[in-house]
Amino acid sequence: MALWHASVVTLFPDMFPGPLAHSLAGKGLQKEIWKINTVHIRDFAPDKHRTVDDTSYGHNAGMILKPDVVHSALCHAVEHFPGTPQLLFMTPRGEPFKQPLARQLSQSDGVIILCGHYEGVDERVINHWTRTHGLKEVSVGDYILSGGEVAAITLLDACVRLLPKIVHNEDSLSRESFDLDLLEFPQYTKPCIWQDEVVPEVLLSGDHKKIAAWQKHKAEKITRERRPDLWKLYLQTNG
Ligand code: ADE
Repeated sequence: MALWHASVVTLFPDMFPGPLAHSLAGKGLQKEIWKINTVHIRDFAPDKHRTVDDTSYGHNAGMILKPDVVHSALCHAVEHFPGTPQLLFMTPRGEPFKQPLARQLSQSDGVIILCGHYEGVDERVINHWTRTHGLKEVSVGDYILSGGEVAAITLLDACVRLLPKIVHNEDSLSRESFDLDLLEFPQYTKPCIWQDEVVPEVLLSGDHKKIAAWQKHKAEKITRERRPDLWKLYLQTNG
């Protein structure tokens, strides 16, 4: 498979790669396992003032990104994309972002991500790209960020760490089997005693079967207590 590609359509291109230049994603960039570019929406404003937004019909406070400008920026991103992109629009109104979508996107050629700002984007350009290119609206959680950029960084990080050639350390690979069915069990390192708290005895036993059973029990307990929604799903598939 060719290089995984991310193209981010934004008013703030300087926010990229940002945190994605570090850690696993950053190593992936250096090793050319994936690539990121930005498309600056302002470059597609036709007037000399480079206007990207205007007041909203309905007299709501705040400005709306103009459909013609966003459309031109998206056309540019699609024309220059190597392969077949999945188009995404980051918005709190979108489908909640979960691990299965991260996995699916990581197995595609890559993504073009439209980041909204200010009060929003004219609905017609969203409708047009949904109709013509299967644009998907995606939310990273039930809270309002000041723009889609931080949400896009979150989504990209989750996708990139799943790319086939990205090397995880052994520990995270071994935990991968749980994926997101269950929350993580507690983990410990040296020293064995810290602030009067001792590492659970079973972990010192060297009995791998017993350790695995303890970790599963803890993961189940934490999930049941903290995330009844995930627990219900887990019981449906493993119960
Ligand atoms: N833009 C603003 N808030 C957002 C969110 N929660 N998810 C995705 N994009 C956003």
